[in-house]
Amino acid sequence: MTTPPGSTGPNGNADRPWLRTDLPVEEHVEALLAEMTLAEKVGQTHQSANIDPIADAELIRGGGIGSSLLASGATAGNERDAGIRVSTIDAVQRIAVEDSRLGIPLLFARDVIHGHRTVFPIPLGLAAAWDEDLVLRTARLAAAEASLDGIAWTFAPMLDISEEPRWGRVAESLGEAPVLAGRLGAAMVRGFQGDDLGEGDSRGAGSISACAKHFVGYGLVAGGRDYETVQVGENTLRNLHLRPFRTAVEAGCATVMAAFTDVDGVPMHAHRRMLREVLKGEWGFDGVVVADWDGIGQLVNQGVASDLRDAAAQAIAAGVDIDMISGAYAAHLAELVESGRVPLDLVDDAARRIIRLKIRQGLFERPYMGATTSEPVLGPEARALAREAAAASFVLLTNNGTLPLSPNLGRVLLTGPFVEEGEALFGTWTLDGRGEDVASPAAAIRERLQDNAIVDDGRFSDRTLHLVRQADVTVALVGEHPSRSGEANSVTDIGLPAGQLEVLRAIAAIGKPLVVVVFTGRPLDLGEVLDLADSVLIAWHPGVEAGPALVETLFGDRAPGGRLPMTFPRSVGHLPTSTHAHPTGRPIAADADGVTGRYLDALVVPRFPFGWGLTYTTFNYGPIRLSSNEMPLNGGSVEVTVDVTNSGTHAGREVVQLYLRDLVADVTRPLLELADWVSLELDPGSTGTATFHVTPAQLSYYDRTMTLRIDPGEAVVTVGPDASSGTSARITVTQ
Ligand code: BGC
Repeated sequence: MTTPPGSTGPNGNADRPWLRTDLPVEEHVEALLAEMTLAEKVGQTHQSANIDPIADAELIRGGGIGSSLLASGATAGNERDAGIRVSTIDAVQRIAVEDSRLGIPLLFARDVIHGHRTVFPIPLGLAAAWDEDLVLRTARLAAAEASLDGIAWTFAPMLDISEEPRWGRVAESLGEAPVLAGRLGAAMVRGFQGDDLGEGDSRGAGSISACAKHFVGYGLVAGGRDYETVQVGENTLRNLHLRPFRTAVEAGCATVMAAFTDVDGVPMHAHRRMLREVLKGEWGFDGVVVADWDGIGQLVNQGVASDLRDAAAQAIAAGVDIDMISGAYAAHLAELVESGRVPLDLVDDAARRIIRLKIRQGLFERPYMGATTSEPVLGPEARALAREAAAASFVLLTNNGTLPLSPNLGRVLLTGPFVEEGEALFGTWTLDGRGEDVASPAAAIRERLQDNAIVDDGRFSDRTLHLVRQADVTVALVGEHPSRSGEANSVTDIGLPAGQLEVLRAIAAIGKPLVVVVFTGRPLDLGEVLDLADSVLIAWHPGVEAGPALVETLFGDRAPGGRLPMTFPRSVGHLPTSTHAHPTGRPIAADADGVTGRYLDALVVPRFPFGWGLTYTTFNYGPIRLSSNEMPLNGGSVEVTVDVTNSGTHAGREVVQLYLRDLVADVTRPLLELADWVSLELDPGSTGTATFHVTPAQLSYYDRTMTLRIDPGEAVVTVGPDASSGTSARITVTQ
């Protein structure tokens, strides 16, 4: 632990009482605020990118900046940068702490999205594991590694309800269901922040502040085109999109980021109703709202602000506390207060929140978070966790018995564009992973099979067919390069990238067993691939232990346990498609041929429903049992149990899912909504019981007047392996 000389600690601050770290948090905040000039308060609201100890020395000394983001540019998730220099961070911090009038430390932020040096699966892959504890552990390790690098704040979890696979940013999300995204997001917050944000061990490895983003509705960008407008009403926001954010805020998430988009005409960076009234008022959020990159400046592009000054006035009124990058606050906020357009209270509110965050973060005690150790990162424990997470994220879509591969199989060909890849297996937003750290699929299969491994060169060309003929089974690693997903990477075609299907067709025509592994940042329309392949495994972008996790899964050392966190549609023409469908005046019905209609030319049901995933065994579900058919509205609960039997020959994990439907409500309610899930690890022949407690709160919703309510009446409870099947019963909510 490094203590800046003479500036902190109960006895070392006689000349600067506002730095007394023994004060209770709120007293400390007020003591500091009382000392600050308007310019210093505004300084706290200003965030720049990649602050420099030489170029920015005057700004820092003058208290003109409160935080810095370490990022390469506006779409940093798509680029590699030079990495972090702890020495630079510490040099900057030293100026702030020792040479500025008040000695307020700076916050250093970076997008630590799915791991830091140890890269875990993309968030959508992590979500597929449906495992809060796993998500927590990955975030904990990422926080430890990032804080050793001097980072105090990350911009994760991303909690945008994501049901639009054309939108590249679904890769960063935790899927389409508010309960899944909310619970996993809260786990990520707890992992990043620990029990106490200010904690840190003797090496400086500790907790970092989390940021729930992007508040709110970003997942609804029109046509899946990034940054597009969003049209959604407040009722849908409350009943769907706001929910994971609320869960994260209740878990103590320190910060929230505003979304780039407008919602029904009002850009989120100027959305007073959502930010100041709902988030800060109704929910009592006392943390920091940060703008997205130039989000305040973009109010001008969005045509609601005449210039940067106007944008600053609107954003501070709406409740945006930190201006990321635009410079609008630094340039105009003080004058806006002096001219009377912006009340001082608003700037005080922002400064108070930022100071509170810095105190909670322990920055006054420990401003220098950088490494003081030579202990290796990415050691065996980190790799083991990365491997566990990668394997847990895999979702087996189809399997005719080819998987797991038998150890006596003979020769296995590994082919496809990802065979020898490193960085391409990381996925979007991997700022600090290193390609050379990746355990590749080629290395892993060679290690396992020695001479029985045939490894193609990654070109996936006509030469591949010669190799297919020499092998007993082909494993084709296909799918999207990460540069096709993530920010600003939307597509209109969600099939495999150009050329891959043709090679798969040619391989399949040879008639030998074919396993297709798909790396992807989004749900894909796999269409014909599902017919060509004997088995299809979705591997997302799995991270640094991709190769061993994959090979262990293919050979059955590990059984795939993942379940889809997003619906896989039949085609782009079916979008949007998700579990959020509401009943209509004319329900969809099967026609005389049993075909479910709404489209003339295609089935309306998804290709793979939300929650789908096979494993190497099968499960039988017993009947649903209720502790009572009635649930008192005030305080009751109904225990719902279902016995699940492993009816196959391998041990396996079943994710038993609980869905609810409110039959009559004040507004239309989803036909099916995930309410809870339970994981059962079952040996062959054994039976486990999934137990759920259905509560009135799970049936609560916002009505036409935006009031939270629970109605007496009937509800349907369904327990099953995914959103398209299960066993149901009715309960009555009584007064
Ligand atoms: C993204 C955010 C990210 C920020 C900082 C923006 O372009 O929308 O998700 O946290 O950049 O890098």
